[in-house]
Amino acid sequence: MTRLPNGKAAYAARMQKARQAKPKTESAVSTGFDEKTKIWFNGRMVRWQEATVHVMSHVIHYGSSVFEGFRCYNTQNGPAIFRLKDHIDRLFDSAKIYRIDMPFTKAEIMQACIEVVKLNRLEACYLRPVAFRGYHSLGVDPRLCPTMVAIAALMWGKYLGPEALKAGVDVRVASWNRMRPNTFPSMAKAASNYMPSQLVKLEAKIDHYVEGIMLDSHGYVSEGSGENIFLLYRGKLYTPPLTASILPGITRDCTITMARELGCEVIEAPVPREMLYVSDEVFFTGSAAEITPIRSIDRITIGNGACGPLTERLQKRFFAIVEGRTEDVYDWLTPVH
Ligand SMILES: Cc1ncc(COP(=O)(O)O)c(C=O)c1O
Repeated sequence: MTRLPNGKAAYAARMQKARQAKPKTESAVSTGFDEKTKIWFNGRMVRWQEATVHVMSHVIHYGSSVFEGFRCYNTQNGPAIFRLKDHIDRLFDSAKIYRIDMPFTKAEIMQACIEVVKLNRLEACYLRPVAFRGYHSLGVDPRLCPTMVAIAALMWGKYLGPEALKAGVDVRVASWNRMRPNTFPSMAKAASNYMPSQLVKLEAKIDHYVEGIMLDSHGYVSEGSGENIFLLYRGKLYTPPLTASILPGITRDCTITMARELGCEVIEAPVPREMLYVSDEVFFTGSAAEITPIRSIDRITIGNGACGPLTERLQKRFFAIVEGRTEDVYDWLTPVH
């Protein structure tokens, strides 16, 4: 038998050290994980520690999972899940694209999301349903691997930092492009799409930016590693179209609706990189990022370097709706109780 050069004891010591290692970054300490909450796992509520998979599951080796992420807001009338149906529709679309058979109906998954909030007695939280190919065999052909579904809740704060919504964030254009059409399906919210997203996020953070903006395979603006993007340029609001390999964001859809309601023209068209620098306002949208102003890109100040007036109006309208302070005219909220 070959022995590891350092021997078993050294290996065990290294493992012990890794387990005891202190979190290295600010985001590592605010994971939002609460190990006392229960997770809905394949139709049952289980303890946090019990929601586990085998290391030989297909998903571990080939990234074969699709997922969603959305918030439950603590409204004046109790907790309410934001655009629940639209997120579950997108989850099923992602599964359909990847030919993942869902063992539950949309209605069952929606109900399960509500139960996760209710049974854990949560108010504001972030929900993460995930469907993945489980344990059967190691070949790339996934057909015999069962689909597993889990729904967990996290106490996630402001995704791009506590000050981000007010002060805005400093971002860069990523050196990595968003995937070309017909390589990875960008309309699917699949785990595999987040490998390049991790590269984007990592290079941004290492260089002291908050986030990276990817260009598409033609060099036009696509989106952030986990956000869609909008630009206010000469009085009109621009956002890259679906053909720029974006995820069809649900907050993007809300933003288009709210901007039009405010009388602003919204144009979905290819956005040249340089338009980012000369726009009056640029902001990210996403379930996690909500509506986050961008104050600089590649160290070039956007507008006057603060949250612009349109971004602020959109934020105000958005938070008034999600926090239940104004009528939910679009039927975006699903009350939990
Ligand atoms: C790559 C990517 N683009 C855009 C978004 C924004 O989508 P949504 O508003 O539906 O959260 C997300 C977040 O889910 C994302 O991960």
